[in-house]
Amino acid sequence: MHTLIMTGATRGIGRVAATEVLRKDQETHLVLLGRGESGRNTLDELRAISDNVTLVDTDLASIDGIRSSAETVNRMLDQGDLPPLRAFAGNAGVQFVDALHATPDGYETTFAVNVLANHLLLRAFEPRFSAPARIVITVSDTHFGDFRHTGGLVPAPRWSDPETLARPGAFPKPATVTAGRTAYSTSKLAAIHLVHEWARRLPDGVDIVSYNPGLVPGTGLVRSAGPIDRFLSRRVLPALSITPIVDTVPAAGRKLADAILGRTAAPTGSYIDRSRAVPSSKESYDPDREHRLWDFAEHARKDG
Ligand SMILES: NC(=O)c1ccc[n+]([C@@H]2O[C@H](COP(=O)([O-])OP(=O)(O)OC[C@H]3O[C@@H](n4cnc5c(N)ncnc54)[C@H](OP(=O)(O)O)[C@@H]3O)[C@@H](O)[C@H]2O)c1
Repeated sequence: MHTLIMTGATRGIGRVAATEVLRKDQETHLVLLGRGESGRNTLDELRAISDNVTLVDTDLASIDGIRSSAETVNRMLDQGDLPPLRAFAGNAGVQFVDALHATPDGYETTFAVNVLANHLLLRAFEPRFSAPARIVITVSDTHFGDFRHTGGLVPAPRWSDPETLARPGAFPKPATVTAGRTAYSTSKLAAIHLVHEWARRLPDGVDIVSYNPGLVPGTGLVRSAGPIDRFLSRRVLPALSITPIVDTVPAAGRKLADAILGRTAAPTGSYIDRSRAVPSSKESYDPDREHRLWDFAEHARKDG
């Protein structure tokens, strides 16, 4: 038996992936880092598939919340209540209609959940990984910023120093939908940068990859968007799933499960586009930026 720790398993792509992993690999004990009722409902559903599921109530928008959940999981690992840690999936993600949402720690929430939370969790679990182990971070092809990858639905990322990017109001006209979606694409670029930095630092046998599900309408991701966008996501875009630019939630969930289970061939540091390792954007390979982002995340960890 081995342990998989997963965020973002309570709805959308991650919920399907969690179900698939439990069905395909009876050796997995899944630790669900989920919040409130959403976490409890998912636990009930997944327990119908396997007894090997543990819920640890976690709000990823709180540094204290992340810290105490990580301590709980590490205690269970150390006491032998959980089998050895061999996988982590950082799938949770948010997108807002502005760039002004703030966490209790003062970070912009998109950055906090999509970028910082993965770093803090990985730092906490790093000493417990037993090789061979695999870490998957869900990112997005919106990080490319071009029409081919975004369909014009999400603006291109706008990089600046991490201290600015991490705070509310980092983008022009921060109260607008455009700013909220720029915060999203930028956070996904940042997440890929961190995957590159982690890949340089992790020991042999502990691999980290990023996973892009493509455009997957009908999940909860646009739940804070206006009625037109929600209608498009629920009713119009799914019809495009017969084209290569859109995937259905079940298909994207299965591909995430394959990435987690190591069934998609992908070397450490690489970017899985649905089910194939391909280069991420040219901009996303930048060791100086990656190093600075790591340092910033470390300051946040120590200050928080
Ligand atoms: N859908 C797409 O088109 C698309 C495209 C590219 C990438 N992605 C990425 O795919 C991943 C999954 O997204 P999805 O589309 O399946 O969206 P979703 O249905 O909204 O799922 C998001 C997940 O993140 C969790 N989450 C968000 N904030 C959290 C917090 N503060 N604490 C704990 N958990 C939190 C949610 O938990 P709750 O149930 O508690 O809300 C949920 O499990 C995200 O990283 C997203 O950015 C999606």
